Amino acid sequence: MYVCHCAGPKGLTEKDVRDAVRAGAKCRSDVYKHHDTRPSCGICTKHMNEVMAATKAEMAAEKGDRQGTLRITPQPTE
Ligand code: FES
Repeated sequence: MYVCHCAGPKGLTEKDVRDAVRAGAKCRSDVYKHHDTRPSCGICTKHMNEVMAATKAEMAAEKGDRQGTLRITPQPTE
């Protein structure tokens, strides 16, 4: 699904926004810089913020899942 129709020659999709956030984009302007393009009308602001927030939440959950994994090492018995 398209998020921004104004950016670049073909716009930005939700995947484009997610890719930028996973590459380190912290704000909308970072997303545009990541794709070497610019916004124009600003109509997409709310949708882009939602996609960015969802991606950040996914990343936090993934990080939490990795950190929350228990490793149980058998201890030698005497
Ligand atoms: S739709 Fe994104 S700047 Fe216009």
